[in-house]
Amino acid sequence: MSSAIDNYIEAHTTEEPDLLKKLNRETHLRVVNPRMLSGHVQGRFLKMICRMIQPSCVLELGTFTGYSALCLAEGMPEDGILHTIEINDELEEFTQEFFAQSPHGKKIKQHIGNALEIIPTLIESFDLVFMDADKREYLSYYHAIFDNVRPGGYIIADNTLWDGKVVENTTANDKQTLAVMAFNDFIVKDERVEIVLLPLRDGLSIIRKNELY
Ligand SMILES: C[S@@+](CC[C@H](N)C(=O)[O-])C[C@H]1O[C@@H](n2cnc3c(N)ncnc32)[C@H](O)[C@@H]1O
Repeated sequence: MSSAIDNYIEAHTTEEPDLLKKLNRETHLRVVNPRMLSGHVQGRFLKMICRMIQPSCVLELGTFTGYSALCLAEGMPEDGILHTIEINDELEEFTQEFFAQSPHGKKIKQHIGNALEIIPTLIESFDLVFMDADKREYLSYYHAIFDNVRPGGYIIADNTLWDGKVVENTTANDKQTLAVMAFNDFIVKDERVEIVLLPLRDGLSIIRKNELY
């Protein structure tokens, strides 16, 4: 249930476009695990980040139904390209339907498959990577994409508070929590980057790659 402060934040954040409201509703009606979608405030945040850094080339890991992809694309320059990777081919028809309806859909190039197999085939230099696929693979994604992030570029990792479980007693079989914790512990000690972990929604780590690397 939303708290009063969450409601206040929603009410004082610019509204999402009608197409994204529709995408959110349709995701809840037609797709399992609809809560995976970024949603209003995080979506406006992703757009704002793109407005601020004006990336020409963005990579997203984990398209799901395309909500965050459309938010990122909305903030990108007209000639920007967003590559987004999704392993579940059953979502492709849904996302393409919405990308086609958006004035920003032409900026999006979707790849269907495992991110860890597709990343090595991409030769682009990314200004921004939004990491939101399998939490157990976060460190592998980080290592796989690092050299493709331009010096001074950014990685945003979603769900880095993992429902608060990162500060609870963790059992050995809770692979997702352990992997998110291992990722957070690794990157904070990585001298090649600087990080701010924001308590927005489920935790968003903003990671900036140092110019020297
Ligand atoms: C949290 S959802 C993404 C939500 C989306 N970014 C948004 O904010 O609307 C995670 C997605 O990652 C996908 N995924 C999981 N493992 C993956 C992998 N190895 N490669 C690509 N996609 C993967 C899942 O199928 C799921 O659709």
